[in-house]
Amino acid sequence: MRHLLSTEGLDLATATSLLDTADTLKQTLLGREVRKLPTLRGRTVVTLFYENSTRTRVSFEVAGKWMSADVINVSASSSSVGKGESLRDTALTLAAAGADCVIIRHPASGAAHRLAGWLDEAGTHVVNAGDGMHEHPTQALLDAATLRERLGELAGRRIAIVGDLLHSRVARSNVHLLRTLGAEVVLVAPPTLVPTGAQHWGVEVRHELDPELPKLDAVMMLRVQAERMHGAFFPSAREYSVAYGLNQARLDKLPEHAVVLHPGPMLRGMEIAPAVADSPRAAITQQVRNGVHVRMAVLYHLLAGEEIAA
Ligand code: NCD
Repeated sequence: MRHLLSTEGLDLATATSLLDTADTLKQTLLGREVRKLPTLRGRTVVTLFYENSTRTRVSFEVAGKWMSADVINVSASSSSVGKGESLRDTALTLAAAGADCVIIRHPASGAAHRLAGWLDEAGTHVVNAGDGMHEHPTQALLDAATLRERLGELAGRRIAIVGDLLHSRVARSNVHLLRTLGAEVVLVAPPTLVPTGAQHWGVEVRHELDPELPKLDAVMMLRVQAERMHGAFFPSAREYSVAYGLNQARLDKLPEHAVVLHPGPMLRGMEIAPAVADSPRAAITQQVRNGVHVRMAVLYHLLAGEEIAA
């Protein structure tokens, strides 16, 4: 693996190997007083974020630091991007300054692919940490890691992704990865928030949440991404919440073993009720914890050899 740009095209063997490595790293660090492996000593990892982020940026930084890499955070607002520098020049600057890996979040779909094209020659690896409405592969991997912990193997499991599918890179990455792992995926959203062509993704598309609930092994709620909406996609926040919000009554309709996921940031009271978000059936903080190990696994696969130097 040279770059991690998408889960579309990520084959089963590579995906499984990343998830297994994340699990091994988690077990290796468990109960250790000092959470530090020497694996990436001498490697330089740069996070280049053109959009806001809490979880993703912090967990990439923690992942790099726990593997002894030097991690440098660049945000568009405090870099020369604010002076008008192009993405290409910024990327080439980072590579020339010694970056072995650039982790990029950008509002334009396809930005990570462009970056990978420019940095190939320099031998710098690229990880997509979310590009516009396209993909967010490490989010899908950490979701899969969490589901595997809660449910075991995912083949044959039925998983719903609910809400603002249209603007969600998390949904796209999850559809591809979950299908590769053999899960059945059902997308639930109002017709205005279903991307065109979703019918051809090998998933079921539904517009009503309630009839789906009793059949699910997991439900993944998505944030309504108002910052990407230019127009009215539903009548009001209250109507959206009544039709698609995961409240206590809906939680009670899920099978006992079913897991609730949310990539964060959550809009409590909109797509998810506070009581549901805080219930033991929600895996939201477990997702964040697994995000560190999954990102360690990705950096390890890109930057280190095949053996884990524990
Ligand atoms: C997501 C993102 O940025 O795509 N958040 C995340 O990375 N955990 C989802 C969102 O912003 O709603």
